[in-house]
Amino acid sequence: MLGLRDLSTDEIIHILDTAKSFEQISMRSVKKAPPLRGKVVVNLFFEDSTRTLNSFALAASRLSADVINFTQKASSVSKGETLLDTAKNLEAMGIDIVVIRHSVGGAATFLSRNINACVINAGDGFCEHPTQGLLDAYTIRKVKGSLEGLKIAIVGDIAHSRVARSDMWAMTKLGAQVIFVGPPTLMPAAVDRLPVSVSYSLDDVIEKVDVINMLRIQFERLGGNPFPSVREYSHYFGLTVERMKRAKPDILVMHPGPINRGLEIESEVADGPNSVILQQVSNGLAVRMAVLFLVTQAAAQKID
Ligand code: CP
Repeated sequence: MLGLRDLSTDEIIHILDTAKSFEQISMRSVKKAPPLRGKVVVNLFFEDSTRTLNSFALAASRLSADVINFTQKASSVSKGETLLDTAKNLEAMGIDIVVIRHSVGGAATFLSRNINACVINAGDGFCEHPTQGLLDAYTIRKVKGSLEGLKIAIVGDIAHSRVARSDMWAMTKLGAQVIFVGPPTLMPAAVDRLPVSVSYSLDDVIEKVDVINMLRIQFERLGGNPFPSVREYSHYFGLTVERMKRAKPDILVMHPGPINRGLEIESEVADGPNSVILQQVSNGLAVRMAVLFLVTQAAAQKID
């Protein structure tokens, strides 16, 4: 599972339907099922994470796998060990699935070509974050019934966002119209070749959309100053209580997290009645259980 770009609509729907069946497990008093018993999942995280790392760890544990959480800071990477050597040494311990997050785009693909274990991309550079795209699509489908014909704005730092790319692939394949909204300096190169429309004004789109997904400004990845000041960015692109007054009453407010409260979204909106931000996190667990399960099933079929 390296990205959503190459998945078909039917494959995406199959993952979302599988996730729906796994949702029940988290509601039981004993929150465990056996499909990954005897399997070993390594969460190989070279960047910080709260949601994705813990969600994959919990998802693997709910499916009865053994779980190793590897973080760069507490590993021999600090002594100069390479990504491939790290993965091969873990593989020598008999692991089955590697969930990798890395700052370099293509890291998951590189690993998948060089180790035998299954590889799941948990975010690579600016490229893709497929399970976030799936859980966002799952959340919208759960509330709205379908994505077909919906208008979805993805707002903010599109240029540095792997979430925007995975969302775009999942949402457009499921029939939604996606609008990237942000300042020209935060739009990706060759945006005209992507299956989206572009707007440089949140005020122009706020009344028209069914879903709005607010992205975090990725200060750690910004090379220069893409906008004059944080205050100005917030004024033009922040989701404020005032702007929400012009939105559709049933608009879904989403954010992949972590949130810069008061910058891209006001707290009253992030915690308000239209927000599904914490539901996204809950749904992520079921989606990651489904991905772990389907990847294991596919690997077993390959061996047979
Ligand atoms: N949405 C997301 O990827 O959050 P984390 O960085 O906390 O995993």
